[in-house]
Order: sequence, then C-alpha cells, then structure tokens
Amino acid sequence: MSSILLKTQQRYLNSFRKENDPLILEMEAYAKEFKVPILDWQSAEFLEQMIFLHRPKRVLEIGTAIGYSTIRVARLLKKKSSIDTIELSQDAIQAAEENFKKAKLTDKINLIEGDALEIMPHLDKKYDFIFLDADKEDYQKLFYYSLMLLRKNGVLFVDNLLWHGYAAIRKVPAKYKVSAQHIKEFNKLFTSQVGLKTTILPIGDGIGIGIKS
Ligand SMILES: C[S@@+](CC[C@H](N)C(=O)[O-])C[C@H]1O[C@@H](n2cnc3c(N)ncnc32)[C@H](O)[C@@H]1O
Repeated sequence: MSSILLKTQQRYLNSFRKENDPLILEMEAYAKEFKVPILDWQSAEFLEQMIFLHRPKRVLEIGTAIGYSTIRVARLLKKKSSIDTIELSQDAIQAAEENFKKAKLTDKINLIEGDALEIMPHLDKKYDFIFLDADKEDYQKLFYYSLMLLRKNGVLFVDNLLWHGYAAIRKVPAKYKVSAQHIKEFNKLFTSQVGLKTTILPIGDGIGIGIKS
C-alpha cells in the first residue's frame, strides 16, 4: 500500500523502525513480492498499541490475507483471549494457516473460511474489538454487521479510509474511481453513525477508529 505521506517524511519515519522479528519480516517480503495488500508497518504498530491498551478478550478480523495482522494481534492477546478471522480466498487461507503454525499461535487464532457477508449474520457472540479490512465495496454492509457484533465500549478499527489519498480529492484516476467513491460514502456513514464515537487518523492509508457507546 502506498504511503499518503511525502517520500521524505515516510523515509524519516522508516528510519525509526526497530522490527527484527524474522516471521514478520518474511511475511512483509512475501506480501511485497506477491502484491498481497497487508497493513503497512505503522498501521500495524498502531493496531498493536490499540490491542495493548484495550486488552480485548474476543477479537474479530474481517480479511485475513496471509495472516500478517492476525499474528500481530494474536501475539498480544492474554490467556483465554482469542481472535476469529474471516477470509474467502483459498490461496490466502493456505498461506495464513502456514504462517499461524510458524508463529505457534494456532491456539489463539480461529480462521473462519468463507464470505464475511454470509458468515457475520450467523455469528452470535459479541466482540470487544473488530478490525475491518476487506473489499472496499463491501465496507458498508460489513460495517453494519460489525456494529451488531460489537460490545458496548468495543472498538472498531477500519483500514484504508484515505484510500491512497484519493478519498480526499475530486479528480481520481480511472483505476481508483469506483473504490474511492465507496470509501467516500463509507466515511460519511462511519463518521455520522449515532452511538459510535469516531475519528479518522492519517496513519498509513487512513485508519478509522469507532468506539461504541
Ligand atoms: C487487505 S487484505 C487483509 C490484510 C490483512 N488484514 C493484513 O493486514 O495482514 C483483504 C483480504 O480480505 C479478503 N476479503 C475481501 N472481502 C472479503 C469477504 N467479504 N469475506 C472474507 N474475506 C474477504 C480478501 O480475500 C483479502 O485477502
């Protein structure tokens, strides 16, 4: 995912990065080589900080990909806490399962295979923290399902709300026009939702945080 910052600013921030976990670095290299969209490292660190502060017992992730963010969350979960993560791509599921084994986190992670649009209406238990990171055209529906599944005081964490910067401009390149429109509409819905204290932060590709009252 490209940065919304100027190159000089991004390089400057990169110079402070201290990551040395071999599996995390391996997954980042894999995602870069095979063009798998995963959280950029700053959003991933922010996600970790939110997990660290909020200490959720039950986490739901919508969009596992190769399990990069799942692993970063699962590593921080306390005993008896767990993460459910939903993914529909068979290739991604296979890669994620291998990574969960490598990370020795299979007891903390429950990978649910299939389309979140079909799965979420059948989930009955509530979650303390939900990370929405699936296809942008599905964000609105997935947002409503997330609200139903989120506990009071629960946190909703949403990626890509600046969408490479295209959410904020009128002249969007043809390739991003439809997806940028979805994000623009989603942002209006997200920030005006009654019963959800929201903010959109310029971290990575734009992170939305919503806290349910
Ligand atoms: C941006 S990637 C997730 C990246 C991951 N959260 C990370 O940061 O490591 C989005 C993933 O969501 C999956 N996806 C998209 N729509 C979905 C849906 N409706 N149900 C389940 N998975 C979906 C895609 O196959 C893709 O692997």
